Amino acid sequence: MGVRVSIVGATGYSGGELAAILHRHPRVEITGVFSGRSGKSAPFAALHPLLRGSNGPDLTPFSTEGVLAAGTEIAFLATPPEFSVEAAPRLLDAGVRVVDISGAFRLCDAAEFEKWYGFSHSSPILLSEAVYGMTELCGPELASARLVANPGCYPTSIIMALKPVMRLIDAGAGIVCDSASGVSGAGRQSAEAYSFCEVAGGFKAYNVGKHKHEPEMRQALGLDGAADFVFAAHLLPVVRGILSTIHVRLRGGAGAPELSEAYGRAYSGKPLVGILPPGSLPELKNVACTPRIEIGFSVIRPGRAVIVSAIDNLLKGAASQAIQNMNAMLGFGGTEGLL
Ligand SMILES: NC(=O)c1ccc[n+]([C@@H]2O[C@H](COP(=O)([O-])OP(=O)(O)OC[C@H]3O[C@@H](n4cnc5c(N)ncnc54)[C@H](OP(=O)(O)O)[C@@H]3O)[C@@H](O)[C@H]2O)c1
Repeated sequence: MGVRVSIVGATGYSGGELAAILHRHPRVEITGVFSGRSGKSAPFAALHPLLRGSNGPDLTPFSTEGVLAAGTEIAFLATPPEFSVEAAPRLLDAGVRVVDISGAFRLCDAAEFEKWYGFSHSSPILLSEAVYGMTELCGPELASARLVANPGCYPTSIIMALKPVMRLIDAGAGIVCDSASGVSGAGRQSAEAYSFCEVAGGFKAYNVGKHKHEPEMRQALGLDGAADFVFAAHLLPVVRGILSTIHVRLRGGAGAPELSEAYGRAYSGKPLVGILPPGSLPELKNVACTPRIEIGFSVIRPGRAVIVSAIDNLLKGAASQAIQNMNAMLGFGGTEGLL
């Protein structure tokens, strides 16, 4: 018998991906799957196309008691932050470890949280306890974490591309990040703005200067609110994937060899991170439906670099990174269940 896990929000896109991956994880047993606001019930096999014909627990409406009755050791919350912020403390109090995929526990500062998420945090003490789970950039802290804040999808694509090379970048000269996400980034919602006719054939920027992922990136990169950091999100008419194009100035004489060396140092032995040769840039189609991130860069003239990263927003940007974090929490191999 494997480690007992439950998925809350299993009717959603990220929750469905979690169910599909965890079902084939060799050291895990899914003992509970729960719906959220809809209160839906359904057979396990209906949660994801890859689960057709599979056996597992039926989807039932969420309750803390239901998660405990499933003998859950680790609960994944694939729910909106308003829900996670209330559910996680109750589960933690009952001794369940939590990996939260929403933004409820990513920011350290409660005032920043309120400013960007639009409501005040009911458990601010947990903001200092939560481990920000950018798995490849974490140390041993994941092994003992009770609560892991799984990073956002855009932040994963940008922080993983920038953090290892920050000391080579002249942050004072400004950092500009243009990111484009497939429509599944907005979840399985039926709002008119995400309907086929509104999205197909279009391409637009949105929430510029107001996107709640921006403070998460500043926090992880050590940039305060005054730093000249620009994040512009775009809605790309594909189902899945995020491509981020990051414009930076390099310090002193730094160039391609220094960037390659810094990425190599950060990510050697990390099989889910692909660093491309200088001048070669990632494409969405090479990472879509995979747990991998690809990062490439081009130094287009001395001191000026363009860095590009690509991920699948529902996998490296959500479900598969959450499972990397679970593997680290349990001392399993980093790619177990993923490759
Ligand atoms: N989509 C992405 O690319 C992505 C990437 C990283 C992180 N995330 C984050 O992961 C979380 C889930 O995202 P998603 O894209 O998978 O969303 P989704 O497809 O819209 O699914 C949302 C899930 O949460 C439940 N839910 C919705 N409103 C709720 C409420 N008020 N109370 C309780 N449960 C509620 C839904 O349950 P019912 O069906 O029962 O209502 C559903 O299971 C969000 O916090 C999102 O920001 C998403």
